[in-house]
Order: sequence, then structure tokens, then C-alpha cells
Amino acid sequence: MLGIETSCDETAASIVVRDSAGKAVIRSNVVRSQLDEHAAFGGVVPELAARAHVTYLDHIIAQACREAGLALGDVDAIAATAGPGLIGGVLVGLTTAKALAAALGKPLIAVNHLEAHALTARLTDGVQFPYLMLLVSGGHSQFVLVRGVGNYERWGTTIDDALGEAFDKVAKLLTLGHPGGPAVEAIAKSGDPKRFKFPRPLLREARLDFSFSGLKTAVRLQAEALAPLSDQDVADIAACFQAAVAEVVSVRAGQALARFKAELPEHTPQLVVAGGVAANRTIAAALDKACTAAGATLIVPPIALCTDNGAMVAWAGAERFALGATDHLDFTARPRWPL
Ligand code: KG4
Ligand code: ZN
Repeated sequence: MLGIETSCDETAASIVVRDSAGKAVIRSNVVRSQLDEHAAFGGVVPELAARAHVTYLDHIIAQACREAGLALGDVDAIAATAGPGLIGGVLVGLTTAKALAAALGKPLIAVNHLEAHALTARLTDGVQFPYLMLLVSGGHSQFVLVRGVGNYERWGTTIDDALGEAFDKVAKLLTLGHPGGPAVEAIAKSGDPKRFKFPRPLLREARLDFSFSGLKTAVRLQAEALAPLSDQDVADIAACFQAAVAEVVSVRAGQALARFKAELPEHTPQLVVAGGVAANRTIAAALDKACTAAGATLIVPPIALCTDNGAMVAWAGAERFALGATDHLDFTARPRWPL
């Protein structure tokens, strides 16, 4: 399976095969990040992203084939992200996949990007259904119950910013650069996570949703009150922000796992993490604690497969293809496409 991913700022292609024992193997996974193109703007500029996908995608696909030691004509089918995402980029990947499918006479599989994140742990860790997924990236923050391929229930989502987006905005206001998550985590190491008491939005409510914009505002007001900020102020604010989101995420994970146990008592609770924020050690440690307390298993795939990549799209395509699900060449790209 060839998998193509272009829904945000990574141009990616991968070939995933099954070995003679039927086990899935990633034969190549080429990702070209556009960080440099967008750095000066402090965030992803959709038009620039789409243009860069146009420039690089053909080369990335050729490289994925070369590294896999396969010709394009050897693949059984072609999978591409068809949404949700920045529509210009999605169109580049999906249209390229359609062209290849038409020219090679191969089936097309239009993959939901969220489904690709949701199924990755089955490729990397052989996780069995059902499981709870926590997707925390720059564009999404949600809990999804994954019962099977194509069988998803969203249990909670953010009502404003995504968690990665909150990290990016806090980094921007502390002038730490983009992407903000790694920068906030790095500087938080030398900060005092108890100096400021930032809010834990929605935490008292029973719902499994997130809200991060109020927290971001509290961070901004604190930064303005202290201005000009010393290096220690910046580190302390970063540490307190990170402590607040880690607490929110782990409390919510505990609540989601409690619901899992109540609704699926015959299954061991499993929590799978996806998205770039999974790289954050403080958040991962908080999730680990929540899972231990709930008697649940925590699965964190290798971070290169938690962030956007082609292998997750190829794998989701392979899972759907194995069930006979292919798509027509007139499949329309979807900027919004809830699971
Ligand atoms: O999944 P991803 O690579 O791309 C999409 O958003 O689809 O996630 C990127 C997001 C960015 O917002 C970035 O700041 C955040 O993940 N991130 C982190 C860390 N590494 C990346 N957030 C917190 N801590 C990190 N170490
Ligand atoms: Zn993603």
C-alpha cells in the first residue's frame, strides 16, 4: 500500500507491505516537514503549505518507492488523506493519488486523517480492538472509542483550541518560536511549576471535552503583568502552563477510562495516544499515572508515527482494503470530516 499525507505541513509518502507471515512492515516512510517555510509566520500558512506539497510530493513518492525497493506499479492500492485538514494541501495529495490510481489501474482508498491516527497503534504495537484513543496534535484534541475499523465514537473534543495549538500560542507569546511544543517543554525544565496557579478549564464538569483558550488568556495576562519578562519568568510561566495542561489531560483520561470500564466491562481498558503532543514527557508521565491508577494499559507509538506521516495513511488504507472498502475516483476532499 502506498500512503500519501498532505493535510497539514508535512509532505509524506510511505509504502507498507505484508511479509510472508502476514505481518505489516513499513518499507519506507518519507516525511518532508515544511517548518522552514512557515517559521517566519509563526504558524502554518495554508497557501504556502499547498504550494510546497505541489513542489515536493512527486519526489517524496519516488523516494518512498526507491527506499522500499519497489516500483509504483507493484503496489496493490493507493491510499491518500482525503480530509480533514487544510483543503489546498488535501487536494494536492488526493488528486495525485487519483491520478496514480487511474494511470496504474489500481484502487483508490480515501483515508480520514483521524482514522489514520486512530489505527496507527495496530501497526506499531498490534493493539486489538476496542481501545480508547487520545489524539492531541496541533489541529485536534479528542477522545475516540475505537471499536473496529470504521467503528468510532467520539467521546470528547476541544471546544476551542487544540492542545498543540495552545502550546504554539503560549510559545508565541513568550517569543519562543514555532513549533511551540518542544520549545515550551525545553524551557519549562528550568521553571517552577508551582509559581503561578493557572486555571484548569472545564475540569469540574463531567463531560470529556477540553477547553484551552481561557488558560492561554491567563498565561497572557500573567506575562503582561510581569513584563518585561526575565528568563526565569518565562521558564516559570512555561512550567506552570505545562503543569496545568498535564493535569487536565490526565484527569480527563482517568474519567474517559472510567467510562470505558463502565461501558465495556468485559475488556481490559487500553489508552492509545496519537499526535505530536504525545512527545511531551510531562504529559506522557501524567497519562502513565492515570492509566496505572485505572488499571489500564497505555500505548504510545514511536513519536515519528504519532506525528503526521505516510505510514499511518498506508496502514489505514490497508485495514480498509482488507475489508474490501475502496473509493471512487470522484471522491471529494473534505476540509471537515469528523470520525
Ligand atoms: O501531530 P502533529 O505533528 O501535527 C498536527 O498538528 O497534525 O502535532 C504538532 C503539534 C504542534 O502543535 C506542536 O507544538 C506539538 O504538536 N508538539 C508538542 C511537543 N512536540 C510537538 N507539544 C508539547 N510538547 C512537545 N514536546
Ligand atoms: Zn495529524
